Amino acid sequence: MKLKTKDLLGLEYLSKSDIELILDTANPFKQLFTRSIKKVPTLRGKTVVLLFFEPSTRTRTSFELAAKRLSADTINIAAATSSVVKGESLIDTGKTFEAMKSDFMIIRHSMSGAAHVLARNVSSSVINAGDGFHEHPTQGLLDIFTIREKKGKVKGLKVVIVGDIMHSRVARSNIWGLTKLGADVTVCAPPTLIPPDIQKTGIKVSYNLDEAMRDADVVNVLRLQLERQKDNLFPSLREYTLLYGLDKTRVKKAKKDLLIMHPGPMNRGIEITSEVADCPQSVINEQVTNGIAVRMAVLYLLAGEEGVPPGQQINDKE
Ligand code: CP
Repeated sequence: MKLKTKDLLGLEYLSKSDIELILDTANPFKQLFTRSIKKVPTLRGKTVVLLFFEPSTRTRTSFELAAKRLSADTINIAAATSSVVKGESLIDTGKTFEAMKSDFMIIRHSMSGAAHVLARNVSSSVINAGDGFHEHPTQGLLDIFTIREKKGKVKGLKVVIVGDIMHSRVARSNIWGLTKLGADVTVCAPPTLIPPDIQKTGIKVSYNLDEAMRDADVVNVLRLQLERQKDNLFPSLREYTLLYGLDKTRVKKAKKDLLIMHPGPMNRGIEITSEVADCPQSVINEQVTNGIAVRMAVLYLLAGEEGVPPGQQINDKE
């Protein structure tokens, strides 16, 4: 099976079978990581441009490693050192890299829809690495990959996403992906951090974390965007932590095999305690490892390669 799309802009636009194809294809890429040489020649001769107009630790390096492990050439562009500071538009920047025959453009931007704008204007494959409050599809995919790997399934699992749902692209991508795969999703936050009408997407809303976590199989804790405090969307950090922070007491009341996730970067002591972030049920570091495998699968499939069915190896012969 092949992915029938030029770009990856959001999980909203992928079918259940497209999502499963990416997850299945990521499996053999993850197996490569146990080898001393973690590289295959699949994308040799391809060029990947990383356009990061917002800060990133995990996503940028994960995409770069994914591209390099597929033997592609990578170019890193940061807004501060590009001609964007001289007033060049996003479209002109994209067309410049298109003229250099770039095969992929991976973009992170503060404007929701920036990846769509770029994708409409260049022939290269565009991958959204996070656009404003809209989507962060590869984060959603790596979260779902991690859930499926740990629990053996996604369908029927009760997944709680706690935190600033209103401003979270990670939450949106998780909601699209998890609901397409049949999970039972609950979002939990103060009412001011939950978008109106979100129930229309088929998920549940809770304002009480203890209630939401009862019978939960997975809790995905979102970073509290500290800059939201000035918008007066919650009274104080202390109160947020008291009502919505994940600590040992809450984890003890939940299922013994609760899976604890966080996309990073974490505010330790605010939305999650260090004790919980580093406990045996936490898969936060495995999410990072899985991110590389999922991004390798995305690049591989967008390059037009045939998907890899479960149990099959990646062809690493020259
Ligand atoms: N999870 C995530 O997007 O992290 P970065 O901002 O470090 O890329």
